[in-house]
Amino acid sequence: MYNFIFQNPVKIVFGKGQIARLNQLVPPGATIMLTYGGGSIKKNGIYDAVKQALAGFNIIEFGGIESNPKYETLVKAIELGKQKNVNFLLAVGGGSVLDGTKLIAAALPIPNDPWDIIQNKVKVEIAIPLAVVTTIPATGSEMNERAVISRLSTQEKYAFASPLVMPQFAILDPEVCYTLPKKQLANGLVDSYIHVMEQYLTFPVDAMVQDKFSESLLKIIIEIAPKILDDQTNYDYCANFMWTSTLALNGLIGAGVPQDWASHKIGHELTALHGLDHAQTLAIILPGVMNIMRESKREKLEQYGREVWNITMGSVNERIDKAINKTETFFQQTGLKTHLSDFNIGEDTIEKIANRFEKRAFQLGEHQNITPDLIRAILKDRL
Ligand code: NZQ
Ligand code: ZN
Repeated sequence: MYNFIFQNPVKIVFGKGQIARLNQLVPPGATIMLTYGGGSIKKNGIYDAVKQALAGFNIIEFGGIESNPKYETLVKAIELGKQKNVNFLLAVGGGSVLDGTKLIAAALPIPNDPWDIIQNKVKVEIAIPLAVVTTIPATGSEMNERAVISRLSTQEKYAFASPLVMPQFAILDPEVCYTLPKKQLANGLVDSYIHVMEQYLTFPVDAMVQDKFSESLLKIIIEIAPKILDDQTNYDYCANFMWTSTLALNGLIGAGVPQDWASHKIGHELTALHGLDHAQTLAIILPGVMNIMRESKREKLEQYGREVWNITMGSVNERIDKAINKTETFFQQTGLKTHLSDFNIGEDTIEKIANRFEKRAFQLGEHQNITPDLIRAILKDRL
């Protein structure tokens, strides 16, 4: 196992009815900016529950943060926050609203163009405190330091990270799942699954806790997916799914082990160029990464097949083929597509993406050995 430092300060407030605790969690006297997305919270009662819990607080609202939150929208929130001297941010939404709010938190106290933060031209040294009411289990953003922001004008999508934008607290009420569209449930299941895979499917470093914890999370997602897709108002399914998805990307299983993230980085390009949902891009790309990188991931691929899917028979390559197949079929069973052609995406996009990575001059994967040519091969594998 590698050396590591692990610190996660996010207070998790988990369970039914916990939104009502907001008035004890938000600092008294704060000028709060309440951020939200396209309006789902106004239809499903979450907005009303938040407003009721925060009666008497000074609240400035900023709605309309879209999926794959846009820089162009967030600069408006930052301007408003500066005007109103906002000193606390409360994101009520999914990963998009929360990630957007993380950028607002980092940009509010400084005069720079917020894009400088995303481009790592400015180091985040100060941020406005933020918190979240999560409305979709998926990204794990509620308990981590990352945010992923898109820019419309240049069709780019990049992540930035800082411990200063980790939420002060996160309210996780599993009942939010009851109103999720099926597609968003599927997105959340697949995104959570692939967060585990990015931190697990690399090469062995004798990290038993991280490996067995990861395998358990994967098996829970496989078990719970058909149940929750069939009955999304079952509280226990929702509770288990929600906690799994948070643990999948809160730093715990990734501490002390190599990490990949190639599927995510290639997937961000598909979202930036074609607007595909984040999890949808991953369901397409991951089977390609598994196939094309099978040599450098061989030991972990065998372990994954054996421990997660009970694949023990056949040659190494046959077992790896079966593991890839099982994984792809699982994604399809949630309702997501697994091929570029399902979205009429072809060779021209593949070239565009490979060229983008060529210009950036860095390689992907746990060995930094995924060259632009291999990115091209991974994408061609998914046509
Ligand atoms: O915008 P509203 O109207 O709220 O509707 C949303 C949106 O259309 C809807 N929704 C959310 N909660 C709902 C609901 N509808 C009904 N009932 C509810 N309870 O769901 C749609 C999707 O929301 P979004 O926030 O976009 O989804 P998700 O949580 O999957 O977030 C995706 C974003 O997170 C980034 C992705 O790249 C993408 O931009 N990620 C962030 C990560 C992080 N910060 O650590 C890691 C991930 O790998 C990922 O990259
Ligand atoms: Zn993800």
